[in-house]
Amino acid sequence: MTAQGVASQTGSGPEPPNTPLNQGRPHSARMYDYFLGGKDNYVADREAAAKVLTLWPGVMIAARTNRAWMHRAIRFLAAERGIRQFLDIGTGIPTRPNLHEVAQGIAPESRIVYVDNDPIVLAHAQALLKSRPEGRTAYVHGDITEPETILASPDLTEVLDLSQPVALSLVSLLHFVPDDWGPYDLVRRLVDALAPGSYLVLSHITPDFDPEATQKTVQVYHSGGIQGKIRTKDEVERFFTDLELVEPGLEVPHRWRTDLAERDSHVETGDVTDAEVSFWAGVAHKP
Ligand SMILES: C[S@@+](CC[C@H](N)C(=O)[O-])C[C@H]1O[C@@H](n2cnc3c(N)ncnc32)[C@H](O)[C@@H]1O
Repeated sequence: MTAQGVASQTGSGPEPPNTPLNQGRPHSARMYDYFLGGKDNYVADREAAAKVLTLWPGVMIAARTNRAWMHRAIRFLAAERGIRQFLDIGTGIPTRPNLHEVAQGIAPESRIVYVDNDPIVLAHAQALLKSRPEGRTAYVHGDITEPETILASPDLTEVLDLSQPVALSLVSLLHFVPDDWGPYDLVRRLVDALAPGSYLVLSHITPDFDPEATQKTVQVYHSGGIQGKIRTKDEVERFFTDLELVEPGLEVPHRWRTDLAERDSHVETGDVTDAEVSFWAGVAHKP
């Protein structure tokens, strides 16, 4: 597959190609949108999401907690580590604030490239292109199983300078990549392409706290045709091989640098349990 770009900067690009949305089957992006309280989902997504909710009642809290963690991780990288370039794979349906709004809120000159393989995200990509004039954003319709295609996309290379540090964000994505697709190798190929001083930002669903609920949830996704695997702490930690996890290491998202929470963040970091959230999250530095 060729990664298709949607023009960058202020969103004046061409209309996205006419890709089928396949409304009859659930999609991970649209189910996640439902869990976040969004409206870009169809009956099949809501039915599958309702099944998940009966098995894992905390899933809506988990989605919001993950999203709030992403905001803090990006704020940390922009404010404390001076990162100005971001590559976000598995972006999801736009949900404000989007990653570029968080990064450009601190450093307006930040450059962000979004990547997702779901046609519905592509259909909404214009919302991701509303960059501050000092910075740039671009959207690439691509798949993490083809890292080199993503990295070589002209829309990416026009916006990101890969000789300089980039934060690679794989947030709530890799549980949709089963072991036989080689997830560790895919992450390594992406990280290898980044300059020293880059960062990996990664969160992942885990069975560690509530194995029954989370494993049954996986079965709902599988029966809807969505592949994946949830992973233990050790298995998630393996994605950070040869990288230096920043404090506090691989942690549940609601305890990761809660000092960075903003009052306007729509998600609390306090009153949730590890079982409700069932995620591991971490940020690591490439030496
Ligand atoms: C649960 S959402 C996460 C959205 C966002 N990163 C967040 O955490 O708020 C997962 C996203 O990954 C996308 N996705 C799933 N498999 C993918 C793949 N193989 N390549 C690229 N994107 C993928 C889905 O379309 C969906 O938008």
